[in-house]
Amino acid sequence: MPGILYPTQIKYLKQFKKDEDPLITEMEQYAKEHNVPILSWHSAAFLEQVISMINPKRVLEIGTAIAYSTIRIAKVLKKKSVIHTIEMSEDNAIIAKENIEKSGLVDKIDLKIGNALSIMPQLQKKYDLIFLDADKEDYKRLFDYSMILLKRGGVIFVDNLLWHGLAATKKVPKEYKISTKFIREFNKVFMNQPNLTSTILPIGDGIGLGIKK
Ligand SMILES: C[S@@+](CC[C@H](N)C(=O)[O-])C[C@H]1O[C@@H](n2cnc3c(N)ncnc32)[C@H](O)[C@@H]1O
Repeated sequence: MPGILYPTQIKYLKQFKKDEDPLITEMEQYAKEHNVPILSWHSAAFLEQVISMINPKRVLEIGTAIAYSTIRIAKVLKKKSVIHTIEMSEDNAIIAKENIEKSGLVDKIDLKIGNALSIMPQLQKKYDLIFLDADKEDYKRLFDYSMILLKRGGVIFVDNLLWHGLAATKKVPKEYKISTKFIREFNKVFMNQPNLTSTILPIGDGIGLGIKK
């Protein structure tokens, strides 16, 4: 699938990609070889910047996959801050667990295995930052739970809102019609949420950034 920028722009930006530690590079390689969708390097770098700016004490991630973004987030969290991350695929969770152990950040990361739609209603304490990166058909319901769990002044960061450019394209390939419809419907909700200041940024696959009023 194409990206949301022209290939020349992607190539130009990529020259500024920082060398990551070997585990991060290994996970990027694993994701590429096994077709695991992970946050683009550019979105991950932006998310790290947001975390450094707001210094969240409690982070919730919905959609761990192999823990690529989880570990990148945990690495920039300050001492005593934590990330809770939810993954429903048992297979992904096994690899995520291994990577978390390798990262040496076990104390900062709490991996919860199961469907976020069942786990989120059981969570009691609120979060300073929520990163939503799960199945697109669940986005609306996961977003509703996120709004309950997000503190006032907290930040929500949502991936894939331009959906490979398809959100803004008339001719959508047949196999992407349903997912594109979900993203378009979600974007309307996200941009018109009364208790959220929201924007969609053309970074990676399109990042939604919202601040709860
Ligand atoms: C795009 S990947 C996450 C990538 C990861 N955030 C990263 O950037 O490294 C989405 C993951 O969310 C998981 N997922 C999708 N819907 C979910 C749900 N309702 N509850 C928990 N996990 C879910 C999928 O199994 C998949 O591993």
